[in-house]
This record gives sequence, C-alpha cells and structure tokens, in this order.
Amino acid sequence: MFNTLLTTIENNILTITINRPEKLNALNQQVMEELGSAMDEAENDSQVRSVIITGAGEKAFVAGADIKEFLDVSDGEKLAKKGQDIFFKIENASKPVVAAVNGFALGGGCELAMACHFRLAAENAKFGQPEVNLGLIPGYGGTQRLTHLIGKGRAMELLLTGSMLDASTALQYGLVNYVVPANELMSRTKSLLEVINQKAPIAIRECIKAVNAVQEFSTDGFEEEAKSFGITFITDDMKEGVSAFMEKRKAAFTGK
Ligand code: COA
Repeated sequence: MFNTLLTTIENNILTITINRPEKLNALNQQVMEELGSAMDEAENDSQVRSVIITGAGEKAFVAGADIKEFLDVSDGEKLAKKGQDIFFKIENASKPVVAAVNGFALGGGCELAMACHFRLAAENAKFGQPEVNLGLIPGYGGTQRLTHLIGKGRAMELLLTGSMLDASTALQYGLVNYVVPANELMSRTKSLLEVINQKAPIAIRECIKAVNAVQEFSTDGFEEEAKSFGITFITDDMKEGVSAFMEKRKAAFTGK
C-alpha cells in the first residue's frame, strides 16, 4: 500500500498512478521513494508482465519535482543522484514500462516519462524542462535523455528557453510514439502492452537490455548533470526562482 500512488493489476499490466492531483502530481520525496518501491515490487511480482506510469486527474502527468521541498534541501547533487537512481530502476526494468502522459509532463515529470521505455500522450499533454525559470537545471537525467531522444539542437532550445512543447510537436520530435484523445489514452496504452505481454518474457527483457546498451551519452553525463544541479542549487538565483514560484510572481535573477 502506498500513500501517494494508486496501483492496480489487470491482465498482467501494473498501472502506477501518481496520485497528488491537487499538486499536479508533483514528485515529492515520498512519491519518489514509493515509485522506487513500486518498481522493486513489479520486478519481483510474477503476475506483472508490464507497467504503465500515469498521473491522477485530467490536467497533469507530473508537473515536476515538488518545488516546495527545494528550500529545505541542502545538498542538490545528492538529491539529483537519488532521483537519478530511482529513474534508472525504471529505465533498466526487465519488464516494459510505458508512460501514459495525460497532461503536463514538466521538469521531473518529463524526466520520468523519458526514463520509461516509450511514451504515449493525450492530445492535451505538454512537455518541457522549465528548470531554468527557477535558476536550476534538470537533475533526474533530463539533460541526458532529452538530448538522446530528440537531438542536441532541439534539446538545447527546450532546456535553455524552458518553454513547453505541445503533444503534436512532441510527436514530430519523436519524444512520444502516439498522440491519442485523452479518453483513449489508457485503453490504447493497454492494447499495446497486451501485444507485448504475449511475447516471450526473456526475449522482452533482453531486448530492453540491448536497446539500453545503445547509449549516446555516457554515465559521466549523468554525474555531470548531478554536479551542475548541485552548483545551481546553492545560488541566490535558485532561492529567488523558487520563492518567485511560491509567491506566484516573476523571478528577478541577479546572476549570483
Ligand atoms: N511543485 C510543487 N507544487 C506544484 C508544482 C511543482 N512542480 N507544480 C504545480 N504545483 C502546485 C501549485 O503550487 C498549485 O498549488 P496551490 O494550489 O497550493 O498554489 C497547484 O499545484 C496547481 O498548480 P497551478 O500553478 O495553480 O496550476 P496552473 O494551471 O496555473 O499552472 C503549471 C500549471 C504546470 C504551468 C504550473 O503549475 C507550473 O509552472 N508548475 C511548475 C512547473 C515546473 O517548474 N516544474 C519543474 C520543477 S523543477
């Protein structure tokens, strides 16, 4: 039983729903820890052949790491590494993990979707890495996976502007495999997984392993990201960016 996740198993498909709709399913530390445990359980549960990750409500998949927790954290690099490790569990799962992106997938939400093996999006989905608006950079693998998935130029633009992509642009960029009407998102995702679930589990596991072995980025890239996240995390601009978000005003950055 989890406090921040809903889990159901149907036709050997485990659906994990991040369930903080009033906070747009923002990833606080409890969600992160429970996600890690849910992935461990999925790995060990022979009933589970594949996994869907989605968000509760109609507005958001996940609108990012929980910004309100940032001011209480002293070691940004450690926070980033902890998050990266949980997302590696998803990426390296032996069973397919698919993101059903039902709304905003921003910051840690976009990073979570990208750690999944592939993604389907509802027509209202929006993707982005808006960390620069907070005086930060992505810390849960976003700089690496986004570059891998959509290419350096597009990734740079998205990371440096902090702007959002709509679902059809995400499709054009190859960030998602399909865009479907919101009310068909879960059924389309499940139908795809039902096809995969008919295949030989060892073959599926080894396919995932082999595809994951094609890394255009090195493990060092993740380290570099965590270090840089740590550097931004102790700046005045980060404090200003986070305070501005909480006070619902525009941040005034000073470069300190
Ligand atoms: N962390 C913590 N709380 C968040 C959050 C996040 N990443 N994203 C949204 N919320 C909270 C809001 O603070 C608000 O809570 P409140 O009602 O207690 O004030 C609630 O979720 C609803 O969000 P709100 O901003 O009112 O919705 P909106 O429709 O006006 O805007 C977004 C939607 C997604 C554009 C906006 O919430 C946003 O910019 N979120 C932050 C995105 C981000 O920077 N993510 C990266 C974090 S590193």
